[in-house]
Amino acid sequence: MSGALEAKVALVTGAARGVGEATARRFVAEGARVVIADVRDELGRALGAELGSAARYEHLDVTAETSWAAAMDGVRGGEGHLDVLVNNAGILRLGTLLDTDPETFLEVVRVNELGPFLGMRAAAPLLIEAGGGSIVNVSSTQGLEGFPGLVAYVASKFALTGMTKAVALELAQHGVRVNSVHPTGIRTPMLAEAFPSAPPGAGAAGSRIPMGRLCTPEEVAALICFLASDEASMSTGGQFVIDGGSTAGPH
Ligand SMILES: NC(=O)c1ccc[n+]([C@@H]2O[C@H](COP(=O)([O-])OP(=O)(O)OC[C@H]3O[C@@H](n4cnc5c(N)ncnc54)[C@H](O)[C@@H]3O)[C@@H](O)[C@H]2O)c1
Repeated sequence: MSGALEAKVALVTGAARGVGEATARRFVAEGARVVIADVRDELGRALGAELGSAARYEHLDVTAETSWAAAMDGVRGGEGHLDVLVNNAGILRLGTLLDTDPETFLEVVRVNELGPFLGMRAAAPLLIEAGGGSIVNVSSTQGLEGFPGLVAYVASKFALTGMTKAVALELAQHGVRVNSVHPTGIRTPMLAEAFPSAPPGAGAAGSRIPMGRLCTPEEVAALICFLASDEASMSTGGQFVIDGGSTAGPH
């Protein structure tokens, strides 16, 4: 039986751990060849080795244009073509308007907003050459609604939601689909590091979610996999929530 991503080549950023790791695992299980891109070299290499010949690790800092150029050269010379880009790498910095300094704000914007911009710019020519493809941008419910104490993160994720739609309109004529996914809190190292005293699911994060629990990385990977696959052939410019009802209305 063939998988949903058979014969496809995908690059996933931030794939050394968390949602990116789960996505790389799912993509390989669905028949794709995957470039695991991250700055956590040790973790990324170990995952690449575990996943075998269908995966390889590439050091890629999403904030650096030169890093993207090298990664695309690597794909051209290695896998030969690119079908899927997942802009998943992201960082979270806690802080209200009054206690977020401009450097911290820009640090978040560089990874969460400039990173996907550079990624789409670098990958679009390859996706067009391949005759079409899919870009999946990992935003957040914080890319759809505000949240106090996360001003930089919210700003960067709203920007990604909007950028997704603008690029979707530009690339539709080339058969390149561009969508954003919007998870609520997910059980990953990011959440555990940001809220060390409240174990994921036990604190306020879980109780704000109508379904009463956080997402798993595997659930988010399943949605990303659908959007990456040809099953989502008519979806572009869309925002896909995976939030246990969090943004459905007052609760
Ligand atoms: N965890 C959550 O609750 C949650 C909720 C909604 C959305 N998200 C989004 O999901 C995505 C994945 O988050 P996660 O929870 O798996 O986080 P994580 O911190 O567990 O993993 C993120 C990965 O991104 C990598 N990364 C960071 N900066 C990078 C850079 N400059 N270049 C390349 N890689 C870089 C990290 O090394 C790490 O491996 C992020 O975009 C995040 O904003 C997370």
